[in-house]
Amino acid sequence: MHKSLLPLLLFVFLSTQSLAQSSFRVSSPDRAIQVTVQNTPTGEVTYQIRYKGKPVIQPSSLGFMLQRPQVTLNRFTIAGADSSRTDETWKPVWGEVSQIRNNYQELGVRLLDKAGSGIAMLVRFRVFNDGVGFRYEFPEQTALTHFIVADERTQFAFAADHTTFWQPGDYDSNEYLYNTTRLTEVNAIAAAAKEKDIALQSLIGPNAVQTPLLLKTADGLYISLYEAALLNYPVMHLQLDKAKLTLTSQLTPDAVGNKAYLQTPAHTPWRTILVSDKATDLPASKLILNLNAPSTIADPSWIKPQKFVGMWWEMHVGKATWERAGGKHGANTQNVKKYIDFAAKYGFDGVLVEGWNVGWEDWFGNWKEDVFDFVTPYPDYDLHSLTAYAQQKGVRLIMHHETSGSVTNYERRMDAAFQYMQKQGMNTVKTGYVGRIIPRGEHHDSQWMVNHYQRVAEKAAQYRIMIDSHESAHPTGLHRTYPNWMASEAARGSEFNNAPTLGITPEHTTLLPFTRMLGGPMDFTPGLFRFRLNQFDSTRTTRVRTTLAKQLALYVTLYSPLQMAADLPENYERHLDAFQFIRDVPVDWDDTKVIAAEPGDYILTARKGKGTANWYVGAITDENSRDLPLPLDFLEPGKTYEATIYRDGPNADWDTNPEAYVIEKRSVTAKTKLTLRLAKGGGCAIQFIRR
Ligand code: NOJ
Ligand code: CA
Repeated sequence: MHKSLLPLLLFVFLSTQSLAQSSFRVSSPDRAIQVTVQNTPTGEVTYQIRYKGKPVIQPSSLGFMLQRPQVTLNRFTIAGADSSRTDETWKPVWGEVSQIRNNYQELGVRLLDKAGSGIAMLVRFRVFNDGVGFRYEFPEQTALTHFIVADERTQFAFAADHTTFWQPGDYDSNEYLYNTTRLTEVNAIAAAAKEKDIALQSLIGPNAVQTPLLLKTADGLYISLYEAALLNYPVMHLQLDKAKLTLTSQLTPDAVGNKAYLQTPAHTPWRTILVSDKATDLPASKLILNLNAPSTIADPSWIKPQKFVGMWWEMHVGKATWERAGGKHGANTQNVKKYIDFAAKYGFDGVLVEGWNVGWEDWFGNWKEDVFDFVTPYPDYDLHSLTAYAQQKGVRLIMHHETSGSVTNYERRMDAAFQYMQKQGMNTVKTGYVGRIIPRGEHHDSQWMVNHYQRVAEKAAQYRIMIDSHESAHPTGLHRTYPNWMASEAARGSEFNNAPTLGITPEHTTLLPFTRMLGGPMDFTPGLFRFRLNQFDSTRTTRVRTTLAKQLALYVTLYSPLQMAADLPENYERHLDAFQFIRDVPVDWDDTKVIAAEPGDYILTARKGKGTANWYVGAITDENSRDLPLPLDFLEPGKTYEATIYRDGPNADWDTNPEAYVIEKRSVTAKTKLTLRLAKGGGCAIQFIRR
């Protein structure tokens, strides 16, 4: 870590009338990004961001409304400012790269409330080469100890009516498709009304959108607004003022309408603005991870990236049920044995079993508190013998804790549930939060729930348990601090292929790397090999809108250290040659290069397997077919690699011919240039083995 004071980078101007008007400027290490902080004559504090001279954020104000003490903090005098420089490198426990550079210029501006409350604050900016993070800090002081945040008033003003990729603002669901419109054309209520398959909607209003928000400017900039290190604070949504082209933070309220309960010293999460003129820089950015605190787990040797199969999709597509009643119970001893055999035969680490425990008969929609106890298997599920069977076969069962939103119940039972897992030799749990939250009135995105997710991560770590959370709040890089919280769904995942109304559009997975995935790994659950989902119920019209080759490519383009092979064993056994890619693809990487990308259109990513010389490529496209050039200059010069190419067949098309694929082998070097031909809704996956 290198920290030095660089006062030269700090400019302070006093106006001629010697009013308390000051201006501070700080630049990124490469000087491409400039942040200017101004104290206006009326006392407002604004910040402004430019990238290579182009406007990113126009002067935008900062501030808070507190409730107890009841003060509005939006007029300040500046008490001083400090600047420092950090350039360090750290190693994540697992990830897309084995080393991460944390290189930024920092500016801390000390503010004093002008209205006379005596409250002192600090806004800390960190300016990286690929964006800016800033947060508010409330130091310990006599004027402020316990306080309640009624509202945060952070603004993001834009210079023009940019194209934006947005989800309706919603305090309980981030499972929407993305909409692409101008800022002034946002209509969250109309967009949400088209979504018939989201279990719970808590819409904020017609002009409210979620973070991460992606924008593209007419002069070629890609901008993302998001947050990092969301702890002890609610999720930030955004309210749009169309006339002013300005977004203002909209924090998730709790059951009584407050936003956050804090005690000094306290700080907010980081508000982040990624910016680049290259789309590929956004998915490659490590800014959000860098703004999170280092790992809290001293000995992470038990944390292992893994691939798993599971008794899961067969319930979504109607072959079996979670509940015992009805005679189609999926999680019975015999059926799970079949999955253990399959996992062992094909080299998977784990088997996820859903519907194993008593309680599924009335689990959803009743706002019932005492749903599951997480320790009582259904009588037809002999967990004890299966544990022994799995162990003997070298695989582990993965636990499922669906809370049904009853979080008070989960909190009471978590210790016993984790002890039970340990006893059964399980070290990974998939958690779930489907439905309305208990404590009643809380939201998935409120401060209380954010604290809950943190408690689960910490408690699980005490038991050496890895977590994959579904329906949790959007991830904000906390996997640096809690590397056992390995993945979350927190977006529209592959299960929506089975949703009757909108399903998953071909473009959805080309947007995830620019939006949801900026915050962390996603348990998307790729790998579907059967596209019309009427296999067990001939009346079903749901379908998967990709080709088979695209399903393979998703293992590379959608990063996760926990990857499921989601389809049924019998569907994989029909295509064992293509299944080989899923068996081979790593879940931990030394290096990643996003080679080409355009949000909503395509992305082409190459990754080098951890501790190996081998590379993997994934390329996916939206509903349009396209050719993507792939220069192989990332390979080691002078070496020969055997490339196994899994590509769309000549007549492949997600709509008319999704199963057509070709597998071919070629000998290549760093000098070879390939052209990848992607079908409509198609993709390509390649393995490069160094000889
Ligand atoms: C929603 C989750 O996303 C899905 O994976 C799971 O199967 C169901 N809830 C049931 O828990
Ligand atoms: Ca879900």
